[in-house]
Amino acid sequence: MKAIIETLLLETVSQMKQAGTLPADLEPRLQIDRTKDKSHGDFATNLAMMLAKPAKSNPRQLAQQIIELMPEHAAISKIEIAGPGFINFFINPDHLADQISQLLADEHASVQLAATPQTVVVDYSAPNVAKEMAVHHIRSTVIGDAVTRTLEFLGHKVVRANHIGDWGTQFGMLIAYLEIVQNEQASDMELSDLEAFYREAKKHYDEDEAFAERSRNYVVKLQGGDEYCQTMWRKLVDITMEQNQRNYDRLNVSLSDKDVMGESLYNDMLPAIVDDLAAQGLAVEDAGAMVVFLDEYKGKDGDAMGVIIRKKDGGYLYTTTDIACAKYRVAELGADRVLYFIDSRQAMHLQQAWTIARKAGYVPEQVSLEHCAFGMMLGKDGKPFKTRSGGTVKLVDLLDEAEERANALIAEKNQDLADDERAEIATAVAMAAVKYADLSKNRTTDYIFDWDNMLSFEGNTAPYLQYAYTRIQSIFRKAGVDGDSLTGSPQLNEAAEQALAQKLTQFSDVVNNVAAKTSPHLLCTYLYELAGQFMSFYEACPVNKDGVADDVRASRLLLCGATAKVLKLGLGLLGIATLARM
Ligand code: ARG
Repeated sequence: MKAIIETLLLETVSQMKQAGTLPADLEPRLQIDRTKDKSHGDFATNLAMMLAKPAKSNPRQLAQQIIELMPEHAAISKIEIAGPGFINFFINPDHLADQISQLLADEHASVQLAATPQTVVVDYSAPNVAKEMAVHHIRSTVIGDAVTRTLEFLGHKVVRANHIGDWGTQFGMLIAYLEIVQNEQASDMELSDLEAFYREAKKHYDEDEAFAERSRNYVVKLQGGDEYCQTMWRKLVDITMEQNQRNYDRLNVSLSDKDVMGESLYNDMLPAIVDDLAAQGLAVEDAGAMVVFLDEYKGKDGDAMGVIIRKKDGGYLYTTTDIACAKYRVAELGADRVLYFIDSRQAMHLQQAWTIARKAGYVPEQVSLEHCAFGMMLGKDGKPFKTRSGGTVKLVDLLDEAEERANALIAEKNQDLADDERAEIATAVAMAAVKYADLSKNRTTDYIFDWDNMLSFEGNTAPYLQYAYTRIQSIFRKAGVDGDSLTGSPQLNEAAEQALAQKLTQFSDVVNNVAAKTSPHLLCTYLYELAGQFMSFYEACPVNKDGVADDVRASRLLLCGATAKVLKLGLGLLGIATLARM
């Protein structure tokens, strides 16, 4: 609605510029606010007051002029001048009702799909091989997945890229240690404790010279494509990713094994990249290493910063891989846009890799590379989130604890549930709560992990939204209707009905904003406000109460239907399940 008014006002301003009423170079900043007092209409702007001076007119006179010039629109029933020169807009309830009817009939709930669908590569999750997923991996995984789902919903072609850390010199020692473990355990082993595995491998490497020698030998062989080492390496990758997949499935994250595009994928490209950068004069030899000097980044002494792309010993670096990776995403995947959901501490690393990739012509200007950075996960004490003994919290332990807590909570709330149904609900609530706690905060800041907040049934939480949804489902059950197949145009007589309808029509803008700003918290805020608006509506406008006329009930059920639909779709974009009851 706001967008419609904005367009109309901008058109009017440009007309006034053409007519000479306003200076041609004027770029007014439009401010359109929702009114508090509905007798002043639904929206108001102070535009006439802002433009009075440049127009050399008085505000009320100018407001009158604006209103006369403004094109008509079905969404607006009346425009008035108020006070010193405010312009008030009254929304046409019939138009609003039409929009609700369209929203109910459309499987996308009237969300405007992308006019020009893009190919978007989304780099997210990216855990490391032979390490267990730690709690901090949840941020990239969950936020990246929500944006991925949103982009797909809008009609873009999305390539999920799980850039796992599956390459590097540590694989020599890991293979050597896997060999030992395999010989000890004759059967097909399962490495349930990857942390311990990694620790033991490192210990052997540090303490046993023969083992270290063998490890170094395996690295060389692995890089040379040796079959035995490749097989052992693959085993390590598969074991790790099988475990990670369990976390993904539990969290309803849409990644699978076919999305894995780890560091190893780019390994074969690296020698040619370094050669090419040297041929282009971008990389030069410096004390045996190959280095790109970037004027864009100055070191402490004011000299151009040197980025090493090949070490003296011939080894390549994380940056070299990301240069190759950016090239691959453009050339092989056809990316128009690449989103990197990575910790904000890697900002400099990405900037360097991208600057080099662009200079080398691997990434044309029109392809956008975006670091969708996020802050750290902190405990209630404001320090990095750790176990009691100060260790890293394993993701799987966190998810287990969430389920336990949710189970106890649901048992307390609803004693009539059978054990298996309660367990099912608790799982859905637990995973939703953990995800939503992360998704609902602006991703750029650090975020404080707090069990009590995230599992609360009040406030901007997953349980609150899931509960709002189940409440609507129980309204449908009581009324004896199928809430998913309601169609028609509601009557919007009450202020609460109109407010709810207006909120519902904002869904499209919000979803598009999430995609543009790669910020799912905008959707969370919206859904929270929508649920609140629904609660106010339901208080003011009963549905199933005695004495509510049939046509009024039918109309209100349509608003319930539209709300349930938007809640379900919206939560679905966040990768969060809705429940029929809880
Ligand atoms: N595996 C890396 C880490 O754990 C994240 C990789 C992110 N993606 C990338 N293209 N660099 O820090």
